[in-house]
Amino acid sequence: MAPRLRRPYDHEASDCARLLHISAPHVYSYTLTQTQSKLYELLQLFFRTPGNMHSKENMIVEEEDGRITGMILACPARDMKRLASNTARCLAQLIRIAGLRDVVRMMLRLPFNRYLPVTEGDGLFVANLAVFEEYRGRGVAVRLLQGAQAIAVEKGLGRLTLVVEIDNSHARRVYEKFGFMEVKRIDFPSRYHKYGLFGYYKMVKDV
Ligand SMILES: CC(C)(COP(=O)(O)OP(=O)(O)OC[C@H]1O[C@@H](n2cnc3c(N)ncnc32)[C@H](O)[C@@H]1OP(=O)(O)O)[C@@H](O)C(=O)NCCC(=O)NCCS
Repeated sequence: MAPRLRRPYDHEASDCARLLHISAPHVYSYTLTQTQSKLYELLQLFFRTPGNMHSKENMIVEEEDGRITGMILACPARDMKRLASNTARCLAQLIRIAGLRDVVRMMLRLPFNRYLPVTEGDGLFVANLAVFEEYRGRGVAVRLLQGAQAIAVEKGLGRLTLVVEIDNSHARRVYEKFGFMEVKRIDFPSRYHKYGLFGYYKMVKDV
């Protein structure tokens, strides 16, 4: 069957959590401070909880022969601040999964969030593009980006915005090929380098 884009179903939380982690492993390992299995559990919690950045309603997945091949997040940039602050709504479950001590560790790492992208402009923010390894190099990423672009057009948002880590030259080339242009570079302070966090480029594409 031909691949198709759609919103994910509830039972696909595990695949989507794995893809979220693939898209930004260092960011999640640093901010959520968990072992891989707990990290997946937390990402599944965000996926199931409506109204936050990682909720399933903000995701587009591609399905081929009943399997998810890749995923992208897309939400209006003007909603980002609200969606980010809503994550606190999951606090009780966060403590249940990670334990109080680790939630305190997460909170101590919150200052890092100030370096993460903030709401700017009125375009559609796309994030967390990831494709399972066995499906790479077959155009999945391009189709997911096209899906996000279609949402921007439908919502009357004239621009796509994203950030890509400075050391992810492969993804940057994919975005450039799709028509994105670099507009800004953010370097993280050197104390974050040991966590694999160096900084990112902000890229935009007018649609
Ligand atoms: C980056 C990623 C999403 C690309 O997914 P993909 O489905 O393999 O990409 P596509 O097959 O759609 O390729 C997109 C374009 O980039 C090109 N491309 C793919 N791999 C490339 C590579 N290693 N070097 C240069 N160009 C490459 C393709 O040729 C294609 O161009 P074309 O349409 O003209 O042929 C995938 O490699 C991935 O999941 N990486 C790990 C997570 C990640 O880094 N996400 C980005 C977070 S910002």
